This record gives sequence, C-alpha cells and structure tokens, in this order.
Amino acid sequence: MKVNVVLGLQWGDEGKGKIVDVLTPAYSVIARFQGGPNAGHSLEFDNKKFVLHTIPSGIFRDKVTNIIGSGVVIDPVIFVEEVNGLKQLGIPVAQRLLIAKRAHLILPTHRIIDAASEAAKGNTKIGSTLKGIGPTYMDKTGRNGLRVGDILSPAFLDRYEALKQKHLAWLKQFDYTYTIDDYEQQWLACIDVLRTFTLIESELVVNKYLSESQKVLAEGAQGSLLDVDFGSYPYVTSSNTICAGACTGLGVAPSRIGEVYGIFKAYCTRVGGGPFPTELDNETGERIRQTGCEFGATTGRPRRTGWLDVVALKYATLISGVTQLIMTKADVLDGFESIQAAVAYKIRGQETQQLPFEINEPIEPVYKTFKGWNRPITNIRKEEELPFELMNYVRFIEKETGVSVRIISVGPDREQTIVRS
Ligand code: GDP
Ligand code: IMO
Ligand code: MG
Repeated sequence: MKVNVVLGLQWGDEGKGKIVDVLTPAYSVIARFQGGPNAGHSLEFDNKKFVLHTIPSGIFRDKVTNIIGSGVVIDPVIFVEEVNGLKQLGIPVAQRLLIAKRAHLILPTHRIIDAASEAAKGNTKIGSTLKGIGPTYMDKTGRNGLRVGDILSPAFLDRYEALKQKHLAWLKQFDYTYTIDDYEQQWLACIDVLRTFTLIESELVVNKYLSESQKVLAEGAQGSLLDVDFGSYPYVTSSNTICAGACTGLGVAPSRIGEVYGIFKAYCTRVGGGPFPTELDNETGERIRQTGCEFGATTGRPRRTGWLDVVALKYATLISGVTQLIMTKADVLDGFESIQAAVAYKIRGQETQQLPFEINEPIEPVYKTFKGWNRPITNIRKEEELPFELMNYVRFIEKETGVSVRIISVGPDREQTIVRS
C-alpha cells in the first residue's frame, strides 16, 4: 500500500483542512508531516466551523488514527488548548491520536526569539506567525533541539534548562523586552499532559500500517511557495512543504508515495511578507478578500489576494509530482464578469514562463482573461451542472499543468464538494 499526500500548491490556506476531512472516510490513517501551529486548517460541517493547528484534520471522524509525524514541531501549550477544545466537543482525542517521539518541541524561548528576530528585521519582516517555528527548526538542524520523546527522560528538565539558557544568551543581542515566567509555567504543565498521550516511533508505525494494507493519507501544512528550499526565499516557512517533506517527515520511502493531491484556490492569497506577482492591491483584491473571508485562521490577519498564478502553479505541480489537482473557492469568483490568470511573467522586459531565482525582483504578470460564470455555484453538487465558463477555466488549468482537476470545492462545507468522474 502507498501513502497518498495532500499538499497546498500556493502560499498556504488553500483549503487543506476541508479537503483532508472530505477524503478521510476512504482512509484509516491521517498523518501530519511538517510545520506546526503556524498552520490553521479549517473544517466545516453541520453548520459548525473548526480550526486545527497541530492535530491532523481526520480527528473528527470515527475509526481513524491520526498521527502527528516526526517532521512536525509542537508547542505543548497550543496542543493542549486544541485537545481541550476537541474534548469539549466530545471527541475522544487521546484514543484517536498518536504523536511521534521524534517531533521537535517549541520552547517558550523559541517563540521569544521568533518575535525578537522579526522585530529586528524592520521592513524586511517575513511576517511570521510568531509561533516559534523558525527558531525550533534552526535548533533541529543545528542539533540542539528537544524532541517529544525527550520528555520521558529523567534528565528532561536539565536539558530544557540548558537549552533555555542558550536561548537567553542569544536573546541578549536583541533590544527586545520579554517575560517568560507565566508561559513557562503553563508550558511545563502542558508537557505533563503531553506525556499522557501515546508517543510512538511514527516511521515504524506508518510503515507497519502500509504493510498491513491500511490506507494512509499524509496531510501537508502551508504551501509549496512557502517551502524552505523551493519557495520565495527568504519569505518562506522553515520546513519542506512539498511532497518530499512527506517522506522525511514520516519516514516513508519515495517509492511508497502514491497519489499526490495538489490543492489550489481558483485565485491566490498570501499572508505575511514577500513577493506576490499577481497581487491585487485594489478594489478587486478587496472584493475577493471580503467574499472569500480571506482572514488568517491562525493570526486573523487580512490575507493579501490576487489572480491565479499559473506560472507558480505549474512549478509547484512539477516539484511535487502532483497527480491530481483539487480546486477550491471557485464560488468566491461567482460574481465576476471576467477573471484573469497569469500565464507568463515579464521581467525587465523579457517574457518567461518560468519562476525566476530572484522572485523578489519586480515581476509584471502577463494575463489571460476568462469570461466569468457570473452566477452562484455553491448549491451545485453535480459536475454536469457547473457553468460552462468555469469548466473552460478548469480545462485551461489542466492543459497548462498537464494534471486533471479531480475535485472542485464550491463552498467551505464538507458537502460543498464535487468529485469529478
Ligand atoms: P488550509 O490552511 O489550507 O486548511 O486553509 P484555511 O482553513 O486556512 O483557509 C481556507 C478557508 O477557506 C477556510 O475558511 C475554509 O473554510 C474555506 N474554504 C475551503 N474551501 C472552500 C470553498 O471551496 N469555498 C469557500 N467559499 N470557502 C472554502
Ligand atoms: P496553513 O497550513 C498561510 C506564512 C506566514 C509567514 C511565513 C513564515 O494554514 O496553510 P512562520 O510562522 O512559518 O515562520 O511564517 O509563512 N505561513 C502561512 N501562511 N498558511 C499557513 O499555514 C502558514 N504558515 C506560515 O504568514 O509569511
Ligand atoms: Mg490555513
């Protein structure tokens, strides 16, 4: 059996939470493989909305095992808040969740370093979610980090204190005022809660499930253009958000990867700093933001909005070997007479269809205009009832990327999903 993977193909918030929830009934295991509480994955069903940050989006479904994989970074405080919220809804979280011992811990001082280094950046800020993601992955690759499995060691508190002291020394270079005591107390209490969960060698468990022919779906966080190696560096997150991240974040071999589902919005959004070639810093952009409720699920920040970027979409499809595309939020464009998509870039007068190394230099998008469908699609459930103009747009994307669009999402609810034949 192979692992299927769900990935965001843009700058995050493509609707991964909704789509994983929709796909979950066909799987017995849902595994998050990278990122941490910088993610905000929204799900809607029975007229209720839920946002998950660390816990996989399969948690609401019965008889499904959810795994927080070794490539994830965990803040115990945010994790416990999330667990408590789910428990209040009657979800037996502990019974449905396994946590990798190799996942790294976000320390209170990681969050402070994140905030201090962002503040020091002035107008070159990344626009981090300030959850401590970058500093935690730095300590992981710098071989200083603390892992979830370490909380079982009698030496844990000493090791925590030693790393904290390193961080406090590092923080002296910043002109930054902070307090640590309250959050630290809470953090240590939440470590005790974390200890009550089932901690596993996730690479062995996932491979065992595969050998037993159980169906495993890997859930990505963020999006391909935020990948630390292939995204719009340095305006990226600190993990591999592309398909390869599922291999390193779960311990599964590349030959074990099956379908790669790439999710994209019918337009683009980005939250935080960094280049965004098709950004609409105007009334049209504001209209998309309001209609699409484009405000961050983690930080509440307004998301930047723009037309679909087919150049970037092709790139994201290429580097992850996407086998099936999923288009979300087509309904947000319902009221438009016409819509646009960038099919090339003009850089210093030269037209190109490739994402340049220096994506931070001025890029002028070359647009293709499509006739809008200009009618509501949120109540449509059958492919054949979708407007011709929308299908025209979909077919264009399929032709450009060479990949079929298998699912079209027409609203945030579980039910508002059309699986094409
Ligand atoms: P994720 O991080 O990729 O899981 O995406 P987010 O949850 O951060 O953001 C996607 C937002 O769009 C959420 O509020 C979803 O409820 C919503 N959403 C998902 N799919 C659709 C859709 O097809 N149409 C509309 N209107 N909203 C959607
Ligand atoms: P989901 O999983 C959208 C962005 C931040 C910032 C940059 C670095 O919900 O799609 P970080 O906190 O990782 O240091 O921030 O990445 N970012 C996201 N944007 N969706 C996300 O996750 C994001 N996670 C991080 O806004 O620009
Ligand atoms: Mg999100």
